[in-house]
Amino acid sequence: MSRNIIEVNDLTKKYDELVAVDSISFDVKEGEIFSLVGPNGAGKTTTVEILECLRKPTSGNARVLGHDVKNEDEKIKKKIGVMPQDFNTFERLTAEENIKLMGDLYGSDNVKEIMRKVGVDKFKNKKFDDLSGGMKTKVGIGMTLISNADLLFLDEPTTGLDPHARRETWNLIKDLKKMGKTVFLTTHYMEEVEYLSDRAGILINGKIEVIDSIENLIEEHGGGIKVKVLEDGEAVDIINDRADEVLRGEDTWTGIFDNKKEARQALIKLFQLDAKVEVEEAGMDEVFLRLTGGKIDEGGELV
Ligand SMILES: Nc1ncnc2c1ncn2[C@@H]1O[C@H](COP(=O)(O)OP(=O)(O)OP(=O)(O)O)[C@@H](O)[C@H]1O
Ligand SMILES: [Mg+2]
Repeated sequence: MSRNIIEVNDLTKKYDELVAVDSISFDVKEGEIFSLVGPNGAGKTTTVEILECLRKPTSGNARVLGHDVKNEDEKIKKKIGVMPQDFNTFERLTAEENIKLMGDLYGSDNVKEIMRKVGVDKFKNKKFDDLSGGMKTKVGIGMTLISNADLLFLDEPTTGLDPHARRETWNLIKDLKKMGKTVFLTTHYMEEVEYLSDRAGILINGKIEVIDSIENLIEEHGGGIKVKVLEDGEAVDIINDRADEVLRGEDTWTGIFDNKKEARQALIKLFQLDAKVEVEEAGMDEVFLRLTGGKIDEGGELV
């Protein structure tokens, strides 16, 4: 088992009467991509910024890299890389100059290597202001890497990006993991959480609804694996005999299997019959819907 890089216990943050973060507890393991997913106003940034020592908790405690966020903030700040939400930087400086500036701050001279790693070298001489959203994100991630931190916080790194730039950013975040970094990510995109994270917590109104590996979340809250049989005959018997629930369509029979093992066994039988089947495994969208009764739209609103 990897060691805990972050430990959060009963953390609460109030802004006057508003409870933005409501007694949350979780751990982040070394080397994993951990995500907090939730709609606008859920408390993601507040949580992240407490861990980055930019805001003080009202109560509870959190340790980052073994240090207490309340009184060891200088130690923590030196060891983390941070990309804030709506990240921006010196607009008139070039991509390279921005990364170099951060490098100077940390006494680090591996600007070239970082630019190559995050794919900034192709546009390094462009002014930040003239870059696309995806390019800006690469510069931002480059700036988090320059301090050589092993723990990176990325607060909604892909919000507002077009699908292509979002994919590129996902690949880059996977590369960060391969480099051995621990990544703390926030997002409101379910497919992003599912694609990137090892473990994730769903945050709503300052509370963590569930937290687990993506696989376990889907297994426990996804509503099962759907196997749809498209023709009458023996195949239907297999579905009726083995599935936990059967839904009748016009010419279809959909078996819902609560666990993978059962589904797999039924599928083997169906394939032996050469039956026409469609398999649909739930995703994080389904998990979110089942837990909250709603979904998060493209703009991050709970609907
Ligand atoms: N400095 C502040 N003063 C007062 N209220 C605040 C402050 N910062 C955040 N809030 C409120 O706390 C709640 C949580 O905000 P937070 O920014 O942490 O959410 P979020 O999940 O990051 O949302 P988003 O997806 O919009 O970035 C919201 O209701 C917000 O309006
Ligand atoms: Mg936020």
